[in-house]
Amino acid sequence: MSNAAKTTPDMITDITLAEYAQAADPRMRAVLASLIKHLHAFAKDVNLKPDELLQAAEFLTWGGKISDEKRHEFILMSDTLGLTMLVETMADDLPEGAFEPSVLGPFYREGSPWIEHFDTISRGENDGVPCLVEGKVTHLDGTPVAGAELDIWQTNNNGLYENVDPDQPDYNLRGRLKTREDGSYSFWTVRPEAYPIPIDGPVGALLEAGGRHNMRPAHIHFIVSAPGLKTVVSEIFDAEDKWLSGDAVFGVKDSLKVTFTAADEPETAAQHNKPNPFVRMTYNFRLVEGERAKVSFSTGATKRAAG
Ligand code: BEZ
Ligand code: FE
Repeated sequence: MSNAAKTTPDMITDITLAEYAQAADPRMRAVLASLIKHLHAFAKDVNLKPDELLQAAEFLTWGGKISDEKRHEFILMSDTLGLTMLVETMADDLPEGAFEPSVLGPFYREGSPWIEHFDTISRGENDGVPCLVEGKVTHLDGTPVAGAELDIWQTNNNGLYENVDPDQPDYNLRGRLKTREDGSYSFWTVRPEAYPIPIDGPVGALLEAGGRHNMRPAHIHFIVSAPGLKTVVSEIFDAEDKWLSGDAVFGVKDSLKVTFTAADEPETAAQHNKPNPFVRMTYNFRLVEGERAKVSFSTGATKRAAG
């Protein structure tokens, strides 16, 4: 029998840390050291059992199997664990009053059609209640930003994005618009609806285990950018949506909630060939100086063929 002292859990952590300390890249070395420290601390904290570790491996394998170029289950996992919002929010230390970032989500498509002011991005037959969206893009001090770009996308009243709904026209409810000289913008769309995120994969199991629902409150996505200013990827929420407090992906921030108001304006409606009453949403985007970052992730998912 050996007289050597028994190996303790902390010794395993120390050996693992020492091995990964050999990583050549300093950022990789720091990230791996922290990952191992927190991962081991987590296992010790919950006294993780071997069968639970196997269950976790099976859960991740399921995520891999269900993912493809259109479905990114690990991003959804990150979203539903609050990690995406944490990382997005840490990425820029924005001053009070600046337009705040939120999740990009998996339904963004590059190359949306350019529209003119007062054009509509609703190209479907029955997308929902017409909504006039207006506001300004300014610097923090209120100085207008002319020629700022708004890249907009949302669901129709079925709660579906066009690229996952064969019944909608290509690029329906998507558009790009440049602000006028005074920083203002105007476009028509439809009132957005709350919608569910997919629960037929491991994220569904995670939500169920956590006692959570899978709804996102109604929102319109915006990417707002202009030369010399920081690009912001975000979304504006209907302040009266019943799912606002439990957003499945934690995208809601107080400054992103807006009341969609009923507008009884026969003249405006007639001028734009819209029914009266309609709905109005007004939002001013305040941007800060900085680099014009590129949007980092797009599924590139194109329209699914009908049938
Ligand atoms: C979305 O708003 O499009 C979305 C965001 C995160 C996960 C799923 C959907
Ligand atoms: Fe969305």
